[in-house]
Amino acid sequence: MCGIVGFVGRQNPVPLILESLKCLEYRGYDSSGIAVLDKGQQLNVVKASGKLQNLVDRLDANLTSDTGEAIQVGMGHIRWATHGAATDANAHPHLGTNRQIAVVHNGIIENYYLLRETLMAEGRQFVSETDTECVAQLVEHLWEKQTEQTLEAFRGVIRETVDQLQGAFALVILNKAFPEHLFVVRRHAPLVVGQRPQAGNQMEYVVASDTVAIIPHTNQVVFLNDDEVVELSPEGMVLMTVAGDILEPKVTIVDASPLQIDKKGYRHFMLKEIHEQPDVIRNSLSGRLLHPEAPIELVASDQSAKAKQLLSQANHLVVIGCGTSLNAGLVGKYFIESLAKVPVSVESAGEYRYREPIIDEHTLVVAISQSGETADTLEAVRLAESKGAKVLTITNREDSTLARESDVVLPVRAGVEVSVCATKSFSAQVVVFYLLGIALAETRNTVDAARLTELKGELMRLPTQLDAYLATAPEPMQDVARQFSHHTSLLFMARGINYPVALEGALKLKEISYIHAEGYSASELKHGPIAMLDDTMPVAAILTPGPLFEKVMTNCQEAKARDARMLAFTSATLDDSMVDMFDAVVPFPDTDELLSPLFATVPLQLFAYYIAEHLGKDVDQPRNLAKSVTVE
Ligand code: M6R
Repeated sequence: MCGIVGFVGRQNPVPLILESLKCLEYRGYDSSGIAVLDKGQQLNVVKASGKLQNLVDRLDANLTSDTGEAIQVGMGHIRWATHGAATDANAHPHLGTNRQIAVVHNGIIENYYLLRETLMAEGRQFVSETDTECVAQLVEHLWEKQTEQTLEAFRGVIRETVDQLQGAFALVILNKAFPEHLFVVRRHAPLVVGQRPQAGNQMEYVVASDTVAIIPHTNQVVFLNDDEVVELSPEGMVLMTVAGDILEPKVTIVDASPLQIDKKGYRHFMLKEIHEQPDVIRNSLSGRLLHPEAPIELVASDQSAKAKQLLSQANHLVVIGCGTSLNAGLVGKYFIESLAKVPVSVESAGEYRYREPIIDEHTLVVAISQSGETADTLEAVRLAESKGAKVLTITNREDSTLARESDVVLPVRAGVEVSVCATKSFSAQVVVFYLLGIALAETRNTVDAARLTELKGELMRLPTQLDAYLATAPEPMQDVARQFSHHTSLLFMARGINYPVALEGALKLKEISYIHAEGYSASELKHGPIAMLDDTMPVAAILTPGPLFEKVMTNCQEAKARDARMLAFTSATLDDSMVDMFDAVVPFPDTDELLSPLFATVPLQLFAYYIAEHLGKDVDQPRNLAKSVTVE
């Protein structure tokens, strides 16, 4: 949540900062702002509430000029509001009272109120309601107390500031006394430094919350760890611990291709990402499932021994995640328990991190996160690690904090997901759980080989079937979506391995259309939710052939008897009397029941998409949300 950018180099920083902020829009879009030092070394700050375009519209073309010679520094911010409404005043960058210091921040300063009181008592004048402003004020306050205003003294100021801050922060700090420098520090919030070599052994630097905002400028990056500080100037990068110990920066060359962002002609990123799912599944399977009769190759050879060891000693998997990732983890539970006979607990990270979990040497934590930066998931994993657990991470971002802190990483390979509403990453996560489950079943001999061959064959065929489905499914879905778009509440129900799909369908609808929706196991209907049903609250049932089909059909009858409008998402062939029960029937391809979530989820994503689009909602950037929830 919130995206920060910094730049040091010999070009106009404004276009570069704007381009990077554009890449970070998924992290928030409540307001944005930019600060640069002009030639007279005045701090120029422009901010605007609302979308990034409002800032672009407000920027004066002469904010700073491209001299091609002088060193220029600047910073930018895109905000997801925590403390204070989405106003111009609360937008970052924030300044000290004397405009000596400018700061952009991602995270939450938990003790901001106390700091603010103390600094106000010292005469500092606050102009915003944010927690961040206290950082700018504190840095400036400490700086003004220095008798010798040297670089070394400012290092001490940063150290002292960090010592006083509680919470999570990634900060870019500008001090007018050092007009060719930026200072960067992180604790529990992501931050990456990109370096771009220039003539004469000089460097340009771009700092950002995420590699996606660096890649347009350079592929050489340094990932920062907690409590590390970086000083950037054209002379180079000085990396040190907050305590002042100098460290050697480790430069990583990142592969730009999976990080490139393009709508490819689709109206929204979400629609594009839904349509990418067959290829995403192919990617996730690639190199891991080569032939139905070949064993699964779960990880690259350099991690293979470690992964094998972790998997062989585990007798309990604890899957930890949030939101859509949590739902994917639930599908994983049904699959792994059914096939590999290993008990799997699925835990909401935000709850787990404050529990006293029971962990022993046979517990394997499976962390699941698209972004790899979700604050609750990170903290839950750290708690488990502190109690001795080993961690296997399933993520779409191999360069994320979560991946770097894990013992083994299983990349899902969905490519950059821009839409806040997760779609293709869910499918990719589910595929990785399938591979994990099959790999466990293979090594433990829990299922006969013929059954595994059958499942692997089905899994390999699935992307082509999904391609065919996506070629025709969207058009009729638009009509179905219109029929249900005026409702204010909707209930999704399913059984077995598709119960998590009902949860996911409800989550999709809520987050992009703002229509209230709940997902239930159909078995729960009579335990409460049925009381809500009447002709204003439709029920969407996910029906797949199998032992629970009749049970869900009975629940549909019960809902129909309460006048609910009925919608079926089904891979079963319904006879005429069954079809008559539903106001609309949306088919999807049939497959092995254990694999059916990969098909069943897609029409639910399309349903949510077309309802939101019909209602004129901001599909890719729904209100109040951010893609990466980096604060708790
Ligand atoms: O990056 P993560 O997978 O850890 O994110 C978890 C949730 O914040 C995320 O899935 C969220 O629920 C999505 N907006 C759902 O579409």
